[in-house]
Amino acid sequence: MAGLKFRRGRPYKWDMELREIEVFGEPGAVVYLADCVDLMRLMPAGSVDTVFADPPYRLSNGGFTVENGRLAPVDKGSWDRSLGSFGEDHAFNERWLGEAHRILKPGGTIWVSGTHHVIFSLGFALQALGFRIINSVAWEKPDPPPNALHTAFTHAHETLIWAGKRGARHTFNYDAVNSRDPASQVGSVWRIPPPSRREKRHGRHPTQKPLRLVRRALLACTREGDLVFDPFSGSGTTGVAAKELNRSFVGAEMEEEYAELAARRMGASERGGVLREVSGRPVLE
Ligand SMILES: C[S@@+](CC[C@H](N)C(=O)[O-])C[C@H]1O[C@@H](n2cnc3c(N)ncnc32)[C@H](O)[C@@H]1O
Repeated sequence: MAGLKFRRGRPYKWDMELREIEVFGEPGAVVYLADCVDLMRLMPAGSVDTVFADPPYRLSNGGFTVENGRLAPVDKGSWDRSLGSFGEDHAFNERWLGEAHRILKPGGTIWVSGTHHVIFSLGFALQALGFRIINSVAWEKPDPPPNALHTAFTHAHETLIWAGKRGARHTFNYDAVNSRDPASQVGSVWRIPPPSRREKRHGRHPTQKPLRLVRRALLACTREGDLVFDPFSGSGTTGVAAKELNRSFVGAEMEEEYAELAARRMGASERGGVLREVSGRPVLE
């Protein structure tokens, strides 16, 4: 697609240099078609202000769910399969989080989102690697799928862990995410609907996050011009939120189809657009 890639690299191999890797997007908002661990190894230490990561849940392993009253296989894509065992999946989380710790600035922070399938491995790895947990946020989904077999409560939330580096002060833009009423501070339960049709108009990704969710996270902990990194960029929600808030963005994505989708979404969004919409008032939405 014309204008989508601003530089064409060679097909990705683990031992390439950054300038050789295929990249999608535009200056200030790019997605590298690469494995995130390999990409982070090429990035300088202490170069990133915030990491927002929505890693594979390791859910798509031949199980079934109920969709619209029918039994359907859980298959979000090969990227969501287990690497073989819980131990291997956890070792992967330690690898990428270790690199994320290295590339973050001392005062930088990381957001990691996940379901119960993966969030405890991520939380354990974060603490073992020297991160300090600042908040655990429940993203409450207003209309969760029913539990058709009546064997458990509905899965009505996902968890986001917000963490900083031990021994360093983090940024929290209190006024940007709270109203002026000191009695109504925003809490750690965020009730936000799934992405609207409008957010999906550039193409489909099976686990696309709502823009409102990522926007609030980035607004809380970054300043204009900061660099945001997403190791599992998917449809590019983090890139769109960063661009709309006038932050710079770098992402990694293994699937070309999704790197292209991210480029389309970022290309259609307005740099700083959300800031202009709400200038003078806190951005709560
Ligand atoms: C849970 S989805 C992220 C969805 C994203 N937050 C959004 O709003 O669209 C995870 C993404 O990570 C990609 N992925 C999986 N393993 C990866 C790896 N090792 N390096 C880079 N990307 C990877 C998958 O292809 C998938 O698109």
